[in-house]
Formats: sequence, structure tokens, C-alpha cells
Amino acid sequence: MIKNTLLPAAEFCQRRSDFITKMPANTIALISAGKEVTRSNDTEYPFCQSKNFYYLTGFNEPDAILALVKGEGVEAEQSVLFSREKDSFQEVWHGRRVGQLAAVENYQFDLCFSLAEVSEQLLPLIEGKSSVLICQQEHGVFEQQVLSWLAEIRKLARTGAKAPKSLVDCSEIIHEMRLHKSDAELDIMRQVNVISGAAHQRAMQRTSAGKFEYQIEAELLYEFASNGARYPAYGSIVAGGDNANILHYTDNDEALINGDLLLIDAGGELAGYAADITRTFPVNGQFSVEQKAIYQLVLDSQNLAISAIKPKQTFAELNRLVCNFLTQALYDLGILKGDITLLLAQNACKKYFIHGLGHWLGLDVHDVGDYHSNQQREQLRPFAPGMVMTIEPGIYIPLSDKSVDEKWRGIGVRIEDNIAVTESGFENLTVNAAKTIADIEKVMAN
Ligand code: GLY
Ligand code: MN
Ligand code: MN
Repeated sequence: MIKNTLLPAAEFCQRRSDFITKMPANTIALISAGKEVTRSNDTEYPFCQSKNFYYLTGFNEPDAILALVKGEGVEAEQSVLFSREKDSFQEVWHGRRVGQLAAVENYQFDLCFSLAEVSEQLLPLIEGKSSVLICQQEHGVFEQQVLSWLAEIRKLARTGAKAPKSLVDCSEIIHEMRLHKSDAELDIMRQVNVISGAAHQRAMQRTSAGKFEYQIEAELLYEFASNGARYPAYGSIVAGGDNANILHYTDNDEALINGDLLLIDAGGELAGYAADITRTFPVNGQFSVEQKAIYQLVLDSQNLAISAIKPKQTFAELNRLVCNFLTQALYDLGILKGDITLLLAQNACKKYFIHGLGHWLGLDVHDVGDYHSNQQREQLRPFAPGMVMTIEPGIYIPLSDKSVDEKWRGIGVRIEDNIAVTESGFENLTVNAAKTIADIEKVMAN
């Protein structure tokens, strides 16, 4: 088992081999690790590995480079890592490094060299290939670096050296692989959901009027880290009252008010994999009549979408189901007014359901993978077993919305679960965060 990951090295090795199978013959793929990012002066943000690099290596150090080589024949396939060399001075100050010997042994690379050996060892691997595959949008700086290596090879043209003629973006190949989760990945995603669900329950139990949003955020972070998910997968949203109507609210610096709702959108990261869960609950533990009405219709719409998930289903169809349901329900409450046939035809609920129904989830919270969207922005890609997505309907009625009765204003509700597509339907990975009105009120009463 590699440190910092719950996946065996063999799984990463298999991914590299699957990736090489998809590469054109006589090419080399160069995938760059992440860089440390300065927070201020000489302090850095916690390091977050480039997810494409991590997917193919499980290697968690900055600055490394993975070279995947595909020659003309199968026998010429190689996976080679370039990484920081062991350095006792640097390691005393900044932490241990894996080094080259342990990288080969523990991560199953064919070869590993230090970064100082790039000219000597990497350029010969690039030379003579027809193209270089890179993840183009990821690291502009790395692309410049690759171009400079090609320039170095071109300088040797008189000796017969041939530089590859093109840089080809291979992000899509990795993204497609990342979209389809293995059993081992699903298992980690189950675990990070359980940890994150427990964090939401802890937040419910510790919420009371007068506390600050960041104090509830601290409860989430405590529960994540104490259970192995040391960092949150994204900035936690802890939004009391009208703050819930700011979709990516992360200021988290206001006091909670008796009678308001609290929306929490937060998930931990475990072995690189994200959970993305939202719960909305009353600060005082008891939903008001209006809060109950909005909450229940959001929950019903979420259940409608989740229960329709199965292979070959699409986000476009789930959106249609949810939009029809929410439009009718908001009309029945008197929040949407007018001709119901027209309102349904116009997807009138979008006035209050102002974001998408869900997204892919995995190593990134908004994970990679094509949605096959058409010009109308409908997401037509058929689901397949092993895909994981969020389902997160919401209704947002800001205090400033004078078009509705005052009693509805300031209510913002989102409910978000993480769902895996299975052979026969779906598996809801979000199993332990209270969600029905009765369950939430019960958790908060204890
Ligand atoms: N946490 C961001 C989202 O739900 O998409
Ligand atoms: Mn989400
Ligand atoms: Mn979310």
C-alpha cells in the first residue's frame, strides 16, 4: 500500500497500461505533477496534486513528470517517472522525499530518474516520436517547458535527431478513464461519503442561534480530519438565512439567527476523491411551515431524479422530470403565477432553481468527463455503470425578491447526494446524513 492512498500500486499501474493502449503508436505522453503554490512570502498552501497526474501515478510529490512511452511495437512501452532526488538538507527542513529507488519499488514504474537527469534521460525518449501528448489546458508553464525540450532536440538535427512535429492534447483520454470508476474507487467514494455524512450530522447537532458560520465549519473540518479525510474537497459553504441564496458563499463569517435555515455544502477528500454533500436545516431545530413546504418539494424532486437513475438514462431527462415537478409544485404554492401550461413549457422553475441538477464527481468535485451537451445545453450522454454524479436540486428565494409573498423570502434550500450508476440502477453513496424533515428534527433534538 502506498502512503497517502487507499488504492494499491497495481491499480495505478493498470491505468498507465490502459492509457498507453489508447495512445497512438510512436508517441510519448508527458504528464506533469502539480506545483507548490505560495500563499504569502515563504509559506505555501497545502499541496494538492494535479489530478490527472495522480490518477496515473498515485505519486503525491510536486514537480514530478510522468513519461509514458509507446514505440512502434508493444515491447517498447514504458512508464518512466522523473522526480525530486533525495536531499538530506531539504528533507530535514521540508519533509521526506520518495526518491527514485523507492518510486520504482513502491509505485511500479519501469524506470525512475531525478529531475536533474531530464536532459540526459528524457530527451532521448522524446526524440524520434511523431508527437508529444500533454494535458494542454492544465499547465501553461509545462507546455512551454515541453516546447523548449523540442527546441533542444531540433538543435541536434545535424546529428540525425528528429523532434516530434506536434503537441497533442490527451486530456480527453484521461478524462474518459476518470469518468468510469473502478470498484476500488467506488469503495473510497463510499468511505468519503460516510465521513462527510457524519460531518453534516455533527454540524446539525452543534448548530444553535448566535454561533458563527465558521464555528460550524470548524465542526465539519474536525470530523473530516479525525476520520482520515484531512482536507475538505472544496471550500465549505456554511450559509445561514439569506446567505444560502449565494450559491458559492464561502465567507462563513456571520452569526446564525433563530428562525433561519442553515445551508451546508461540504465534503471531505479521501485519497484524492471528493464527496459533495449539501444539507439544509433549521438553526433552531424546527422547520417553519414555509421552510417545510419548500424543503419538502426540493426533497421530493431529488428523490424523483435519483430513483430514475439507471444505465442509458441522461441528465437531460432527469432535468426534464425535475423541472416539470418543481414548476408544478411552485405553482401550487402560489410562488409561480400564470398559466400552468405556459409555465411548464417555459421551465418557469428556473427562476428559483438557478443551477444545474448535478455534475460528475470523482477526483475533482466538478469532475472531468464529457457531458455530450448539445447547443441547447442539454446533457445527453447516456449513463453507464461506474459513473458517479451529484443530484442537487435547489430553490432559492432571496430576501430581495419582491415578486413573492414576504413569507417565502430569505429561504434557500439545496439537497445534494452522490450517486453511482450500477448495472441495475443506482447506489446512493450518501447514506448517513439525515435528510427527511422528521430525521433532521430528530437529530437536532438530541
Ligand atoms: N459544492 C459545489 C457544488 O455542489 O457543485
Ligand atoms: Mn455539487
Ligand atoms: Mn455541493
